Amino acid sequence: MCGIFGYIGKRTDAGTIVIDGIKNLEYRGYDSWGIAQRQGNLIIVEKNTGKISDVDTARFHQECSAAIAHTRWATHGGVTQLNAHPHTSSDMHIAVVHNGIIENNELLRKNLQEKGHIFLSDTDTEVIPHLIEEEQKISSDFASAFQRACKKLEGRYAILAMNTKSGSLVAARKGSPLIVGVAKDQGYFIASDIPAFLNYTRTVHYLDDGEMLVTDGSSILFADLESGKEHPKRHIKITRTVEETQKGDFDHFMLKEIMEQKETIARAVNQNEEQIRTIADAIKNAQGTFLAACGTAHKACMAAEYFFSVIVQHHVNVASAGEFKLFHHFLKPESLLIVVSQSGETADVLEAMHIAKLKGAKVLAIVNNEGSTIDREADFTLSINAGPERAVASTKALTGQMAVLMLIAYTLAGKLHEGKTLLLETGSMINDMLNPRYLERIKALAQTLKEEEDCYIIGKSWNFPMALESAIKIQEVSYIHAEGFAAAELKHGPIALIEENTPCLVLVGNDEVTVDIINNAIELKARGAKIIGVGPARHAVFDEWLKVPDVGPAQAICNIIPIQILAYYLAVERGKNPDLPRNLAKSVTVK
Ligand code: AGP
Repeated sequence: MCGIFGYIGKRTDAGTIVIDGIKNLEYRGYDSWGIAQRQGNLIIVEKNTGKISDVDTARFHQECSAAIAHTRWATHGGVTQLNAHPHTSSDMHIAVVHNGIIENNELLRKNLQEKGHIFLSDTDTEVIPHLIEEEQKISSDFASAFQRACKKLEGRYAILAMNTKSGSLVAARKGSPLIVGVAKDQGYFIASDIPAFLNYTRTVHYLDDGEMLVTDGSSILFADLESGKEHPKRHIKITRTVEETQKGDFDHFMLKEIMEQKETIARAVNQNEEQIRTIADAIKNAQGTFLAACGTAHKACMAAEYFFSVIVQHHVNVASAGEFKLFHHFLKPESLLIVVSQSGETADVLEAMHIAKLKGAKVLAIVNNEGSTIDREADFTLSINAGPERAVASTKALTGQMAVLMLIAYTLAGKLHEGKTLLLETGSMINDMLNPRYLERIKALAQTLKEEEDCYIIGKSWNFPMALESAIKIQEVSYIHAEGFAAAELKHGPIALIEENTPCLVLVGNDEVTVDIINNAIELKARGAKIIGVGPARHAVFDEWLKVPDVGPAQAICNIIPIQILAYYLAVERGKNPDLPRNLAKSVTVK
């Protein structure tokens, strides 16, 4: 996944606008960066490997009224300067930035090479400017040449292209996000996500799949990519503020977003009750309810499987969205698919939605990013209202997702207000728990663990998905090899991994399975493990104990929070940047 951003309009500091703006999209990919500025009849390109946050914006103050920029997460082609975007046509009159994957790029490249085009990179993207250049030989109009070129592309893309001859910017999207910021007195901002231009405007147009736009900076046209037919497009006012997208007093977004859980549980629970009841009825009446998501969001769905079983004895089927394709045999028009996604742009989740829709099933989306593709393509949507989540490691979104799913389970059981009360009380206890002393306690624990290369996490019931989620958190920001297990599975193999002082985190509640998991912890201890308990009560087997409130069925929501904090401090203690972990990106918009 990558970040793209362009500006065109009356201002003459387009270079600094797009460099500053693309820095706010760094979470989308950060292995290399680039900018193309239109200077008269020339396009000036600068690009390099490394993080855009290390680039001095002041270097781009040249007089310029149109520019595009890119921050990359490499898919096709390694991390090199030549593979960084923008990419240009042979005559250097066209520059392109792209987010997505052009699946037929090899055939297109071969055909273009046979026509004399020379390629400098080994990316899929580079075929785009050359294809437009070739189409302009048929008709020089940039927008129609761009449209014809896009129709030859297969795959997912958000493309932004600039041309010195026409003096316009064109863009199109198919499967990857693109949003237009409109500032009447300044011009147009076109970006993968809103933080790129939030300093200039909160009036936006969301580009839909199969749509394109053309703008010369003083006006803008939207059209259907297939037919080229223009159509009007309503804009909307967004409420997100600049502050919400900045770090504030925190060193990293990850810690800021962990701490925001002091109020995000309550915000997640603050749903339209009529809408929640409608969704609960849809689940009750569906012939098969499926939950699909990726990564952390998938662990929220796994926890929900226990919520629906224990709270309302209703069977739901959970799948990783990337695996959902093989379950289409079970889907029928009366089925219901619930997808959960923080970004609302995850490719595998979008594919699961399309599979369900092909079978006539209805789709409910639980998202955080309103206006995202998943939000707009679902039949109905619930927002977790967590506010922007910028850190690659998902934290407040997870607990918000679990809160919404638990509220739906309680509503299905006819106990909406009981569930709302439990979750609001849980949020209030988390608010008390997240205090400076608690952070210091966990930071001290991280200091004792920072040299470890392996650690294991066990859980039972809804704490089993949290054991898997704990592993994701620790892996992705500290690079420690962490693995989560269902506690009962230890004796069937993994316990062979335990050596003297192997750190083992044990996630417990105060419920019917506590005795079982404490016994599992004793078995680990007997083989030399260092037992770090996370739960409402201390047990003799614990060498360390991270106390959390006792909140019954909501225990999973509490238990994961000290692990999030531990993962954060492990990363910091190991000299890593928890906001921008290696090899990862915030939203995986490619399959
Ligand atoms: C979680 O910390 C990771 N960043 C990743 O697993 C993430 O949860 C997954 O890619 C799903 O993203 P989404 O919620 O935006 O769909």
